[in-house]
Amino acid sequence: MTDFVLTEINNRILTVRINRPDRKNALTHAMYTALGDAIEQADSDSDIRCILFTGSDECFTAGNDLGEFASGLPGSFEETPVGRFLFLLVNATKPVVAAVNGAAVGIGTTMLLHCDMVFAGTNTRFQMPFANLGLCPEGGSSLLLPSWIGRVRAAELLMLGGAFSADDAYRLGLINRACDPADTEAAALKACQQLASQPPAAIRATKKLLCGPTQAELKATMLAEGELFGERLKSPEAAEAFRAFMQKRKPDFSGFK
Ligand code: COA
Repeated sequence: MTDFVLTEINNRILTVRINRPDRKNALTHAMYTALGDAIEQADSDSDIRCILFTGSDECFTAGNDLGEFASGLPGSFEETPVGRFLFLLVNATKPVVAAVNGAAVGIGTTMLLHCDMVFAGTNTRFQMPFANLGLCPEGGSSLLLPSWIGRVRAAELLMLGGAFSADDAYRLGLINRACDPADTEAAALKACQQLASQPPAAIRATKKLLCGPTQAELKATMLAEGELFGERLKSPEAAEAFRAFMQKRKPDFSGFK
């Protein structure tokens, strides 16, 4: 149980809101468990036709809680709360829509690769700083990004790890629309409302056909990424990156081979 993830069902739409404002909605094990539970609930409840993931007008999520990262993964990747969440998201049978504003860091960007539609405010700063944290790509990003946006653009986002805007994400084909931040959730909700009124089995069949062909390769990649990610979390490079974040200084990787 966590109060940092709020769920609400309205008109057949399950809204899942990340709500930990004092930590920029950084995700803990308990929060991943709640996010995964929400997907399971949607899949098993025939009254729910669509899931909406969102945060606040200022922040989607600053990604994994860096304090918890520092203690490593509790178990093998697919059994961890984050692994379970990601696999449930990939396997979700009902449409998933995201409304994103502000920071969308790490898994805050990669989880969007598994949403069916993404609406992002012009204040959004997407970022996948895995390499800069001594880590490696996760969430299937090392497979999906090169095939969707091209190898060199994927390398820029995953190696340099810089932030990119909603306009950039739109140009890359990673989101459906860049919105005024005050309108992001309404735009996403409008899509959800339409999805909730459409023939549900036809929508599920469409989702299955869109995701099916790449599913096996995606799962294999996510497992390989997860294994490497678990190793990287224990690396001296990651330890230096996490220490630097806590000490509010730039990390120093000059001594590493
Ligand atoms: N894990 C744990 N705490 C986090 C966090 C995270 N991922 N992201 C932010 N916080 C905390 C900060 O430490 C800070 O705590 P404090 O008030 O005790 O100092 C608080 O949330 C506010 O964050 P702050 O950095 O002051 O906000 P900002 O608006 O200046 O910057 C971010 C927002 C998201 C750009 C910045 O917090 C950030 O880069 N966070 C780390 C993101 C990250 O690397 N995630 C992991 C990806 S794999």
